[in-house]
Amino acid sequence: MFLHDKFGRAITDLRISITDRCNYKCVYCRTGNEGALYGDLPFEDYLRMARVLVGMGITKVRLTGGEPLLRKGVVDFVRELAELRRPNGSNGEPLDIALTTNGHMLAELAQPLKDAGLSRVTVSMDAVDPDRFARITRVPNGYDNVLAGIRAARRAGLWPLKVNCVLMRGFNEDQIIPFGMFAREEGVTVRFIEFMPLEEGRTWAPSTVVTLDEILARMAEYRPLVEIPHARSETARRYRFEDGVGEIGIIAPVSHPFCGHCSRIRITSDGKIRTCLFSVWDHDLHAQMRRGASDEDLAEFIQGVVQKKEERHHIGEADFVPASRTMVHIGG
Ligand code: GTP
Ligand code: 5AD
Repeated sequence: MFLHDKFGRAITDLRISITDRCNYKCVYCRTGNEGALYGDLPFEDYLRMARVLVGMGITKVRLTGGEPLLRKGVVDFVRELAELRRPNGSNGEPLDIALTTNGHMLAELAQPLKDAGLSRVTVSMDAVDPDRFARITRVPNGYDNVLAGIRAARRAGLWPLKVNCVLMRGFNEDQIIPFGMFAREEGVTVRFIEFMPLEEGRTWAPSTVVTLDEILARMAEYRPLVEIPHARSETARRYRFEDGVGEIGIIAPVSHPFCGHCSRIRITSDGKIRTCLFSVWDHDLHAQMRRGASDEDLAEFIQGVVQKKEERHHIGEADFVPASRTMVHIGG
C-alpha cells in the first residue's frame, strides 16, 4: 500500500515535529513572547506513526520542531527509528533519518545522535556575523554554541551537513557573500531560503523576500557558480563554486515553487497530519490512536488524508489564505 496523492506524487518523505517549544526567537519565525501552544506526545506514539508510514513507502524521516533537541530522550528515539525496517522490495536500504535543529545544543549531542543511527543534520544559522546572529535569533550567546555544534556534527560524520539561512530583507541579505566564504571554509552546504509567510508576527510582504535571482547575482560578485543537478523532490537548487571548492543551495518556494514534485507529509508535535506547510486544516492521526485504531486502520486513515494533499501553495496570490499554524507549530 504505497502512498501516492491524487496528482500522482509519491509520498516518501515524512517530517515529524517532536516539540513546538523553541529556545530561539528568530525574527522571521516568532514574535518572541509565545511559548508552546500544542504540546507534544510520548515518543512511542510518534514511533508507531512512523512505523505505519514506513510500511507505506516512506524512505526518509526528518525530525523537526520547535527545537527538537530540547526534547529529552531524542537520542533513544532516533535509535528506535533506526531500527525500523523498510518493507520488502526496498533492497534492504536503510531509512534516511535526518534532523533540523538550531544547533544550540548540538555540540554535545552530535556524536550520541550519530551513534544512535542519525544519518545527517541541517542546522539553521542566519548570519555569519555574531552580532547580527544575536539580533536575528534574539538570544545573546548562541553563536558560539551553533558554530561548535556544526563542527561537532562534521566531526561525528553527520553528512552531508547543511546550513539553512532564511534571508529577510533588512536583516541579513548582506550575509550572502560571507556565507559563500563560510561554505568553503567549513566544508558545509549553505542553503539560502526565501522567506515564506509562516511567521507569528505576520511581517511577510513580497518586498521582504530576497529572491533566488538576487542571491545568485550577489554571489556571482564574489565567485562564479555552476549549477549542479538536484533530485526532483529536493527543495533546493544546488550550485558549486567554479573552482570546485564549496557548495551552496537556494530554496526558492516563493519565486520558483517546487510543489509539483512535493514528496512530503508532516506530523505535528500533537499528532496531526499536515499535507502542506500552507494547509488550512490538519488531520488528527493521534485521535485515531486514542480511539483504539489498529495499524491497518491508521494506514487507511493516512491513505485518505494523502488524497487531500493540496496541489500547490498560493503565496503572493490574491487568494492566499494563511496557514492554520505558524512554522514553529508545524515543523519546518
Ligand atoms: P533534504 O532532505 O536535505 O533535502 O532536506 P529538506 O530540504 O527536505 O529539509 P529542510 O528541513 O532543510 O528544509 C529546508 C527548508 O525548505 C524548510 O526549512 C522550508 O523552509 C523549506 N521547505 C521544506 N519543505 C517545504 C514544503 O513542503 N513547501 C515549501 N514551500 N517549503 C518547504
Ligand atoms: N520562511 C522560510 N523558512 C523558514 N524557516 C522558519 N520559518 C521560515 C519562514 N517563514 C526555516 C528555519 C529552519 C527551517 C525549519 O525552516 O530557518 O531552517
